[in-house]
Amino acid sequence: MRKLTIPDIVAKKANGEKISELTAYDYPWARIADEAGIDIALVGDSLAMVVLGHESTVCVTMEEMLHHTRAVSRGVSRALVVADMPFGSYNSSIPVAIENATRFLKEAKADAVKLEGGVNMAETVQAIVRAGIPVQGHIGLTPQTATSLGGFKVQGKSAEAAQKLLDDAVALEESGCFSIVLEAIPAPIAALITEAVQIPTIGIGAGKDCDGQVLVSHDMVGLFDGFTPKFVKQYTRVRGQIVDAVRQYIKEVETSDFPGVEHSFTMREEEMEKLKKLQ
Ligand code: KIV
Repeated sequence: MRKLTIPDIVAKKANGEKISELTAYDYPWARIADEAGIDIALVGDSLAMVVLGHESTVCVTMEEMLHHTRAVSRGVSRALVVADMPFGSYNSSIPVAIENATRFLKEAKADAVKLEGGVNMAETVQAIVRAGIPVQGHIGLTPQTATSLGGFKVQGKSAEAAQKLLDDAVALEESGCFSIVLEAIPAPIAALITEAVQIPTIGIGAGKDCDGQVLVSHDMVGLFDGFTPKFVKQYTRVRGQIVDAVRQYIKEVETSDFPGVEHSFTMREEEMEKLKKLQ
């Protein structure tokens, strides 16, 4: 199957086709998302919370993100792989940002990187894009700086805040982003931004008028037992099924019902006889 490219993703907006994006943090999830036909596999820094058990995304490191991105890249044959740049890997200076973004492509075979910020990150985005690395922007609720935003809250609710989001989106487009994630913003504002820019907008808690949608995989299948935001739709609840399966396994180990003969290896009678004589 042919691998999707940046122009394929951008063309979807022009053709009026929606874009599907989902987080993947490891090889099995990459295989599942790819087999199902996802357009973009995002190695989100949300892995800090849903995979590594941290309280926020801030502490995940470059080495951890590279490790997971490598596994995802090995698992896809069609989807575009976007790697989230962790907090601190692009904020200190442009040369550091270029160096770290380059590592995702060279060492982990990502196709693009994602970073959080709007007007304040425009120069950094431009420099990374000029270095030949496609960038997905991320505005609205930006989890890495959620504390400064007053917590995990819907953004852009006042006219002034909405105008700032529009300015952020335009600045990211002018800087060369190939798409922008819009997180937790009122649907009418996401619709305005989507109309204002030529590049695709990918919504998460931003309504149906975005050019595509992204969800955290562990949330959408009910695998994560922490807080589930209002904008998440749980398509299934696998956690309960897995807990039941593990409980059943424990019970069968305790009662010796597992393993059965069908899970065991046998030996030829004559070899057993020989063994008895050797003893
Ligand atoms: O890290 C992540 O999963 C994300 C998505 C919420 C867009 O950035």
